[in-house]
Parts: sequence; structure tokens; C-alpha cells
Amino acid sequence: MMVLMVLRATALAAVLVLPPTLAFAQAGVIAERQAGFRMLRDRMEAIQTIVQMRDPNSEAVPHARAIAEHAPKIKTLFPPGSDGQGSRALPAIWTDRAGFERVADAFVQRAEALLAAAQGNDQRALAQAFEATGQACGACHRPYRQPQR
Ligand code: HEC
Repeated sequence: MMVLMVLRATALAAVLVLPPTLAFAQAGVIAERQAGFRMLRDRMEAIQTIVQMRDPNSEAVPHARAIAEHAPKIKTLFPPGSDGQGSRALPAIWTDRAGFERVADAFVQRAEALLAAAQGNDQRALAQAFEATGQACGACHRPYRQPQR
């Protein structure tokens, strides 16, 4: 009888402990990817200023590199079940994983082209690569991100 109660208590404790632990892990990955996206936004804004001011392409290189290095990580920051509280991730990310990965991969390619353009000295090419990168952000946001509440 006593053993049974202890077993039950243990099972109950496991049930009580598990969901918050998972929720905590998901909150971590949600915060991490949101911080990554804010970094992308800030780097894009910096490149936009460089393009508008017609500053040397070389000034865009560190920003473009940060974008290109982060881009391949995006896919890994959306584990199943991480569509919790405070996240604007839409369920389609997990129900249409192939589509999500396609736009994520397309973004990686645009980001690499942006870095290559920054490393060259053609201002028009940088402006075009910047536009194309911004479009790739939107191509993922439209189907996979909730509008701002
Ligand atoms: C492959 C899909 C995808 C790509 C590519 C992508 N985003 Fe996002 N972005 C999302 C999703 C999904 C969210 C919502 C994440 C969440 O709230 O959990 C988001 C959120 C954001 C946020 C809000 C972050 C916050 O503080 O909550 C910003 C800003 C953002 N993205 C900017 C960008 C910019 C700029 C680019 C391109 C340089 C980009 N994103 C590319 C899918 C993408």
C-alpha cells in the first residue's frame, strides 16, 4: 500500500514536472529565434542606410556576413511544438514543413548573394541584392508568421 502510494506520487510528480520543463525549453527557443530575427532586422536597416547614402559597399560586409551566418540556423529554431505563448509562428510551419524549409533555404541563398554583392564594388548590385533579401523575408512572413496583434 505504502509502495503503491509512493509510486503514484512519483508518477504524479512526473506528470506535474514534465509540461513546465518542456514549456521552459520552448520558451528558450522562441526567445532565441525572436532575438535572431531582431538582429536580422537591425542588420538589414544598417544595409538599407548604406544603400541609400551610397556609402562604400565594404561597409555593408559585416552586416551582410552576420545575416548570411545566421540564415542557415533559422530552420533549426522551429522545433515541433514551439508555437507557444508569445510566439507569432503559425502552425503551417509544422503542417507544411517542406514549404517552410523551401522559403528558409531560398532566404539562405539570397543572404549569400547579399554578402557576395557587399564584397563587390557595384552599388547597384548591392541595392538589388538587398531588395531580393527583403523579399525573401516577406516570402516567409506572409505564409508562416501571424500579423502583429
Ligand atoms: C523562413 C522563415 C523566415 C524568414 C526567412 C525570416 N523570418 Fe522573420 N520571422 C519568421 C517567423 C515565423 C517569425 C515569428 C517568430 C516567433 O514569434 O516565434 C518571425 C519574426 C520576425 C521578427 C519579430 C521578432 C520578435 O521580436 O518577435 C522580425 C523583426 C523579423 N522576423 C524580421 C525578419 C527579417 C528582417 C528577415 C529577413 C532578413 C526575416 N525576418 C526572415 C519567419 C521568417
